[in-house]
Amino acid sequence: MSIFNFDCLKQFQGVSICSATQFNREQAEAILELASIMRKMDAVQNPSPKQDAASSVLVNDDKFQQPRLNSILNGKILVPLFFENSTRTFSSFCAAMQKLGGGVSYLPIEASSISKGETLEDTIRTVDCYADAICLRHPQQEALAKACSVAEHPIMNCGNGIGEHPSQSLLDIFTMQQELGRLDGLTIALLGDLKHGRTVHSLAKLLTLFKIEKLFLISPESLPMPADVVEFLKSKNINFEFASSPTNEILKQLDVLYVTRIQKERFTNIADYEAIRGSYIINKEMLDRACGSEPSKKLIVMHPLPRVDEISTDLDDDPRAAYFRQMKCGLHLRMALFVICFGKINAVIGK
Ligand code: NCD
Repeated sequence: MSIFNFDCLKQFQGVSICSATQFNREQAEAILELASIMRKMDAVQNPSPKQDAASSVLVNDDKFQQPRLNSILNGKILVPLFFENSTRTFSSFCAAMQKLGGGVSYLPIEASSISKGETLEDTIRTVDCYADAICLRHPQQEALAKACSVAEHPIMNCGNGIGEHPSQSLLDIFTMQQELGRLDGLTIALLGDLKHGRTVHSLAKLLTLFKIEKLFLISPESLPMPADVVEFLKSKNINFEFASSPTNEILKQLDVLYVTRIQKERFTNIADYEAIRGSYIINKEMLDRACGSEPSKKLIVMHPLPRVDEISTDLDDDPRAAYFRQMKCGLHLRMALFVICFGKINAVIGK
């Protein structure tokens, strides 16, 4: 099924995924390869009722029929613990586990003993008795380390405050690879609330594994990329530049425009948020104007979502809008992470 050598991923069996810095290039590429195998197996084994041309070719491809995806993690239980709201991360991690044959034991935080004053550590110790893996999202950055210090089972960091969101960054580079066919040589802009956005913190770090042509860090002046991430980029000799708005000059150089939401919930003074919101809105006309009718390169627009108003809905039907396809990449990438975490790579690739 694949000539790839996945041995470099063995060290992640049973290991918590906390940061994008846990991976080297070889490992990141192997994860993307496994995610693309998951994608093909899923297309063949769970064909969409509305078959498109691409997936009907795959459906007849016998080599993705076996093993059955829903037999791989039989009996395994995921406990998702989300102390902050989530749509995509929560649903895709749960769906990934269930598509692989495992189960999900969901504990809604508001219905848990947290409301009686139980600590995070005791909550983790408890669910750790029933879980084979835990997904944790928490508003406090330090909560992740506390949870990892008491859990025996692996924890997937689904966002630790303004810290990191490593699985999102993996699905982001998976999307870039699927859409553009490569990661080396790309010119990428990260736009928006770079101060509080954990997705862009992880993504900036992960991109240092590749030969990025140029990275633009575009944010309102009060919401710059944190110094530790900037230092990390410098230490890896990344060619980056700060900007305060997505000018035509920048837009026409880009392969990827990665837009993020101003993180309202991180502001202590709501007036500061109101002063900044809506300060940049990406729309179709803006891209057309910057890139011209015959653009020199293919541009994709990504967003971890949810969007508020930073991408106009008039872009949604444009082929450059990759943000909805990006969500689907999240499912297959997270399936790959579970396969790795539970030591099932050989079961998948038929070794
Ligand atoms: C992001 C998050 O929660 O960090 N969403 C996601 O996981 N896809 C981005 C955001 O909330 O703006």
